Amino acid sequence: MQASWRADHDKLTFIACMPSSLASVKAGECDAPDRMIGDVNLFLSPADEDEEGCIGELELMIAPKDSRRQGYGRATILTFLHYIQLHLDGLLAEYKSKLGLDKMKLLQLKVKIGSKNDKSIKLFESLGFIKIGESPNYFGEFELVFEGFLDDERTRSLMDRYKVLDFREMQYHERVPLSAILH
Ligand SMILES: CC(C)(COP(=O)(O)OP(=O)(O)OC[C@H]1O[C@@H](n2cnc3c(N)ncnc32)[C@H](O)[C@@H]1OP(=O)(O)O)[C@@H](O)C(=O)NCCC(=O)NCCS
Repeated sequence: MQASWRADHDKLTFIACMPSSLASVKAGECDAPDRMIGDVNLFLSPADEDEEGCIGELELMIAPKDSRRQGYGRATILTFLHYIQLHLDGLLAEYKSKLGLDKMKLLQLKVKIGSKNDKSIKLFESLGFIKIGESPNYFGEFELVFEGFLDDERTRSLMDRYKVLDFREMQYHERVPLSAILH
């Protein structure tokens, strides 16, 4: 399942780990079990009204209770939004090629949150997500959409405001399994 999530054309997923000041990212160090705190995902799906359009749905979790309320959730989703904006062309190219389409655009970024999950609703609203409708949907969830979701300037200014500094993309150095070396 992990392998399919890595390869699936309609998913983008990252594990959130405790901040680290290391110069390189090595598998098993920065993401050792005691450094993993959550995950953040994007799921792309076809838009009903436009064959060459898709909708992005976000998911966020900071799992350990003692890691919550320290800004990691907001930092994780802001960094993820910035990443999506930087890599949108590549993400859409992968998505459309699997569907055999020539063109594809992202029409909306949204999140679905249980109507009683006030803390999460507050988090997303603090970034400019806006509830669609006054009452929850059939599943008891509010849908919130991100206004100006392609505006990287805006995401950067939110990152400044919430002190999410030093964003850097780094190569992930996977450990080569011993069996691969031996063969
Ligand atoms: C929602 C969740 C991701 C928040 O993560 P977190 O790291 O604790 O959140 P942050 O510390 O970054 O908080 C950011 C903002 O969210 C809101 N918030 C977070 N926890 C809150 C709480 N316990 N009470 C009230 N507001 C809260 C606040 O507005 C907070 O801003 P502030 O600290 O400036 O007031 C985390 O609680 C979680 O994983 N919950 C379960 C999964 C979930 O609900 N995911 C969201 C739907 S996809």
